[in-house]
Amino acid sequence: MREFAFASPSLDLGCGDGIFSFIRAGGTVSAQFDAFLSVRNLNDFYKNVDVYDAFQKDKTTYVVDPPHYRIDVAFDNKENSLKKSDQLKLYHSYVAGDANRRLPFTEESFNSIFSNIVYWLDEPKTILKEIYRVLRPGGHVCLMLPNHTFPNFSFYNQLYAKTHNKKFVFLEQLDRGRFKDNIRQAHSDHEWRKIFRQTGFEIAMHRKHLSKTVIQIWDIGLRPLFPVLKKMVDQIQPDRYQDIKSEWVDTVRRFLEPIVEMDSELGQGVEAAFHCYVLEK
Ligand SMILES: C[S@@+](CC[C@H](N)C(=O)[O-])C[C@H]1O[C@@H](n2cnc3c(N)ncnc32)[C@H](O)[C@@H]1O
Repeated sequence: MREFAFASPSLDLGCGDGIFSFIRAGGTVSAQFDAFLSVRNLNDFYKNVDVYDAFQKDKTTYVVDPPHYRIDVAFDNKENSLKKSDQLKLYHSYVAGDANRRLPFTEESFNSIFSNIVYWLDEPKTILKEIYRVLRPGGHVCLMLPNHTFPNFSFYNQLYAKTHNKKFVFLEQLDRGRFKDNIRQAHSDHEWRKIFRQTGFEIAMHRKHLSKTVIQIWDIGLRPLFPVLKKMVDQIQPDRYQDIKSEWVDTVRRFLEPIVEMDSELGQGVEAAFHCYVLEK
């Protein structure tokens, strides 16, 4: 999405805690920053409770390099995520709301919209029509959308949801509703293009990303260990925190960087899990 410019007025539709767009905008944070500083009900993690939906006010300044540009409006249905994103000084204003309903913006409000949530919503055509409505003529929207291959890459979906094989019931605790409840749409390029045509958009750019290998590593990751990891982190003496964190980051990077490079296999006929489209009104 590097070619996609956040031309003002801009909207981040489903911004979450803002980290994705902050990094995309070239911002950096200090070692004290942690996306998981605020959590709740850790002991209910395996009962699909959203332990990250929490916010503890904190006066620390985490931003080291401010983002190269700012985004006018942050929109999400979680108030806590909007409050977290406020720490990053990326957005000018914040709007909480449900993207399954009419968006709370007037016609032709934005020149650019970024969204990585269309596939979390009830009806892709309805949200695309809403995006079209609030976009100005000549404006652009950048969308991240799952490819039809994505469901086949999920361990939960492939080994348990499709088979109900009791041996794999533990995968419900790996998925914790991520795939089951959130990935509502996954379509081929051909199918997405049909939906775009029906809503009036022109395609300005299309690229695919995230190989099966990368998705499967992401699918497991450190996520199932989160409650116990968080409890361990909370026991670290403040004067040791930065050293331990640096060692973690260096160790993880040693493996993650070459793994991310594996996306180069996508050029060799391996299907990707995600599409990135830039559409023009
Ligand atoms: C995949 S995350 C995207 C976060 C961030 N933009 C990124 O790209 O990493 C999906 C976001 O959509 C939000 N969301 C889910 N359903 C929503 C809804 N009905 N209305 C508004 N936001 C919603 C979630 O709170 C979450 O922050």
